[in-house]
Amino acid sequence: MTPVHGANPLRDAADRRLPRIAGPSGLVIFGVTGDLSRKKLMPAVYDLANRGLLPPGFALIGFARREWENEDFAQEVHDAVSEHARTPFREEVWQQLVQGMRFVQGNFDDDDAFERLKSTMQELDKAQGTGGNFAYYLSVPPKFFPEVVQQLKKHGLADAPEGSWRRAVIEKPFGHDLESARELNAIVHEVFAPDQVFRIDHYLGKETVQNILALRFANTMFEPIWNRSYVDHVQITMAEDIGIGGRAGYYDGIGAARDVIQNHLLQLMALTAMEEPASFDADALVAEKAKVLGAVRLPKDLGAHTVRGQYAAGWQGGEKAVGYLQEDGIDPKSNTDTYAAIKLGIDNRRWAGVPFYLRTGKRLGRRVTEIAVVFQRAPHSPFDHTATEELGQNAIVIRVQPDEGITVRFGSKVPGTSMEIRDVSMDFAYGESFTESSPEAYERLILDVLLGDSNLFPRTEEVELSWNILDPIENYWDKHGKPAQYPSGTWGPAEADEMLARDGRSWRRP
Ligand code: BG6
Repeated sequence: MTPVHGANPLRDAADRRLPRIAGPSGLVIFGVTGDLSRKKLMPAVYDLANRGLLPPGFALIGFARREWENEDFAQEVHDAVSEHARTPFREEVWQQLVQGMRFVQGNFDDDDAFERLKSTMQELDKAQGTGGNFAYYLSVPPKFFPEVVQQLKKHGLADAPEGSWRRAVIEKPFGHDLESARELNAIVHEVFAPDQVFRIDHYLGKETVQNILALRFANTMFEPIWNRSYVDHVQITMAEDIGIGGRAGYYDGIGAARDVIQNHLLQLMALTAMEEPASFDADALVAEKAKVLGAVRLPKDLGAHTVRGQYAAGWQGGEKAVGYLQEDGIDPKSNTDTYAAIKLGIDNRRWAGVPFYLRTGKRLGRRVTEIAVVFQRAPHSPFDHTATEELGQNAIVIRVQPDEGITVRFGSKVPGTSMEIRDVSMDFAYGESFTESSPEAYERLILDVLLGDSNLFPRTEEVELSWNILDPIENYWDKHGKPAQYPSGTWGPAEADEMLARDGRSWRRP
């Protein structure tokens, strides 16, 4: 077969369409009784098994304080799978998976528990043929990261026996600011080498987020206009309708900007703005993303170009919602942001002068994440201004969720005898174009960990560059005023609208 023009034979050695199946291995989840584990991790493990992507002898070890036996743990996994798995429940898949499930009871400071973990892993190596290959998933509050990794080291669990591997998966938030992120990196890297550490940013596991790369770099028609000559500005929105639910302990003092802008939104921005990587290997991808993050410029007047808000009582989906300060477990004087909007610039040739507006919030009008690349108006219009009164700016909108797809918005003549131009859109929807449903982000990411494929995991450098962007904003907020209140169920504080109005722009209402 004649190679496609420009194809690199070295890179094309493996056929990427073939299913990637994990080899002999096991997963140890710390914090297995938590919400993330129940709603995402355990269902993802089952979904992978159901799709035939796990090895037959796969092992799943839960580690937690709860006084459980193996059977109680298996029941818990069963319940989590029945409630949250993406794929249908199949008894034969379950029966195979349950063979490799074990529970280890203990506290993180309990040496005996870590010895029990060790012997459980050895037992599973024999019984299930895991080959000594284990990933440790730290689904625990960040304050426990150092203790857990130190314990793994102390009990010889971080070192892989000859011919096998050990990996650590770390959930966000990775630090609280640049300084704490550096300290944490130092602690983790004392125990695990950089290529053993997988930091989760689950947004990178989403199909629609990976599709940003396909849209930009597999096509010819978008890239020529993807720059300051054509783009007016970019809006990245991650809106949630939910409040903080039962997560007061985690959320208060962290807030929206640290919770999702530092990771998810800055990653979305980096993928939208970066140059084409030389390949899709982790090194090449990280290098391009890091260049964008390193070129970010903060506005001089942080008061005018950043906004933080906090939800007040209101109505959400026809139901009364309490304000953040009335939520269980929240300090009634808390200044934690549940909404954040910031304006960033990127100092490079492609993006100089193009603002990137990032916003996120809880208890907003509805759940939607999107990246809107908004184009400049035509430099000249041959139409009478009355013909184009209803015409907005052209835009390409990457709909990350929930209605996954891409919209191209442009002007079209309204049928009739006069000339009137109005916005219309061309739509690509995953549901209409593909028969396969998208895997959950955690399925993809857990599989990648077991395969040792680190493309979709942010590295130390990106984490630190992201804190470097956020720290001055958080410091400014600490010293100036309080978050603006916005009623639940609305699109955030009026200050955020004013922030864009000052630039002669407005937020999209997705
Ligand atoms: C998490 C945040 O990273 O992302 C949560 O900690 C947020 O606060 C969640 O609710 C949203 O994820 P998704 O995939 O539902 O958009």
